[in-house]
Amino acid sequence: MSHEERSTIEARLAEEEYYSPNPEFIGQANVSDRSVYDRFDEFPDGFEEYAELLDWDEHWTDVLDASNPPFYDWFVGGKLNASYNCIDRHLDAHRDKTAIIWEGEPGDSRRLAYQDLYREVNEFAAMFRDAGIGADDVVTFHLPVIPELPIGMLAAARIGAPHSVVFGGFTAAALANRLDDANSRYLVTIDGYYRRGKFLDHKQKADEAVEQASVDVDTVFVLQREKELHPETKIVEGRDVVVEDVRSQYRGAHVEPVPRASDDILFLMYTSGTTGKPKGAQHGTGGYLSYVAGTSKYLFDIHSTDTYWCLADIGWITGHSYMVYGPLLLGATSMMYEGAPDHPHKGYIWELAEKHAVDIFHTSPTAVRMFMKWGETHLEPYDFEFKLLVSVGEPIQPEVWRWYYDHVGRGDTVIIDTWWQTETGGVVMSNLPALADMKPGSVGHPMPGIQATVLDDDGNEIEPGTGTAGNLVLTRPWPGILQTLYGDDERYISEYWEKFSDLESRNMDDWIYRTGDGAVEAADGYFRILGRLDDVMNVSGHRLGSMELESTIVEVPAVAEAAVVARDDPVKGQVPDAYVVLKEGVEPSDDLREAVVASVAEGIGKFARPAHVEFVDALPYTKSGKIMRRLLSDISNDRELSDTTTLEDPSVPEQIRRQVQGA
Ligand code: WTA
Repeated sequence: MSHEERSTIEARLAEEEYYSPNPEFIGQANVSDRSVYDRFDEFPDGFEEYAELLDWDEHWTDVLDASNPPFYDWFVGGKLNASYNCIDRHLDAHRDKTAIIWEGEPGDSRRLAYQDLYREVNEFAAMFRDAGIGADDVVTFHLPVIPELPIGMLAAARIGAPHSVVFGGFTAAALANRLDDANSRYLVTIDGYYRRGKFLDHKQKADEAVEQASVDVDTVFVLQREKELHPETKIVEGRDVVVEDVRSQYRGAHVEPVPRASDDILFLMYTSGTTGKPKGAQHGTGGYLSYVAGTSKYLFDIHSTDTYWCLADIGWITGHSYMVYGPLLLGATSMMYEGAPDHPHKGYIWELAEKHAVDIFHTSPTAVRMFMKWGETHLEPYDFEFKLLVSVGEPIQPEVWRWYYDHVGRGDTVIIDTWWQTETGGVVMSNLPALADMKPGSVGHPMPGIQATVLDDDGNEIEPGTGTAGNLVLTRPWPGILQTLYGDDERYISEYWEKFSDLESRNMDDWIYRTGDGAVEAADGYFRILGRLDDVMNVSGHRLGSMELESTIVEVPAVAEAAVVARDDPVKGQVPDAYVVLKEGVEPSDDLREAVVASVAEGIGKFARPAHVEFVDALPYTKSGKIMRRLLSDISNDRELSDTTTLEDPSVPEQIRRQVQGA
């Protein structure tokens, strides 16, 4: 029996299955030597290796200032500009090289060389500056995936203005909230965009949002999807600037990149938490860019010669770190696709991968499950060959992993499963692809320099290999960590640190970052992520808070109260189920059910719509007056009811269960 056969059998016996990276990949990998882990264990100096991937206007004096935990400053004293690092510094060597390949849904396509990106970013920066935007003014973007989104982000960064990109699928109400929270007086929008062949009006959302917001929005920059502005688009005199109309004034402009202190804000990214109000994760410049450049090089194995395609939306953190900043910092080619993956046909993704000879492909388990459902026949006609595949955003089930490996990877491509969050800035848990075997369903080890462990609810460490799940925590800061929640240091502490840290201590070793995810650490040190432990769900990789959905549902006048929980879904990972109590005397009806769904579609976005609405007489409350969503989740997921002893009225969940599942 060969060594390989023996280890395969041993692995099976242990019910664990390992796949080795292929030698060809290892031979070309950016990191193929395990010493990287030792180097990064020189904490915090190990992380200088990432910072050295950037060009600094002023070198840092200290790697980390941890004197005021949990507010960490990385590369203190350093100065740099994000736009300069993504563009200008590549021009000498790569002027004509493609920076961005963009594919529009209706089949239009653009290719921007680094020189083109330079030109367009400078024009946008000049236009922004003329509108009065200065350093630290937050510019909000509400756009689909079009080249002007990265162009605008880099233009803002060039003049030191933080960007706040709001996912294009969010509605006017959600946009208004985020404009207010960020106190943002500048908005960039578009007349509309295509989805599955239909043109959707988008500008109207900007108009409504500006109307609803308390902050005075000075300028709305209006892009257009085609050469001509869509005829239905309303333009508000004195407030709206049609970008195409003013563009010629800025032709050939050069705007000097503004050197930013390492801890100056680069951007805000709003994300869902356990209360109804979205949180503005605030990321700084030096630490974030270093971490993203480093992980893009070491983990995603991006070489400047690679064409890298991340099938995400720039409106979420994955798009920021690994569609825009990571690949451009490394001088590579980043490919972007505007549309739905099944438009115009279910093999379109693979047709594009072949057309552009994509080397690295990055997507979510939801997308893989969808491809799996459509069937491998849609891949077979296309001649694509990836060197690396990435999975992000949700747990990937072993059978889904295997399908990804067998059909997209054609049986020998390395897959990395990457765990991280909006708050972590970049990937913090994943195996470096050339250094470890893959184990389907496990993310593997913490990244270099990252310390992770699993704690029980009392804060005691759980022994690896015991199979016991607990709270995934990070016990040491890293350069990509958020700086705070914008304007709300208290909430920053209570959401992430309070549970497991000694809040009185000034020593960073006593501060523990609670991720909100559950995990199990196996005997081999591989972590398996189980998903959120708090009231946050993951719908097709979109993060949604229960409270956020509930607060839009209770806006329906007939609704008294609502609870939303996640139900497991074979394609989307999870979907929201709403349990709704109507006001006295109101009878349940299909119209009301539709009104509940519509209120979520209007309050947040269509992607957040409840899959099921159940009208119930009462919700399960604890004696201390908290809704026990766990029991509703048991019901939605067809599980036995868990412990009900702390309930005010223990008969409530049983009644709901009978109503939903029958006797
Ligand atoms: C989940 C997305 C399992 C997790 C980058 C986390 C994952 C939340 C994985 C953050 C993964 C992300 N395996 N679960 N590889 N990656 N998650 O902020 O629950 O949109 O807390 O960032 O996604 O979502 P966010």
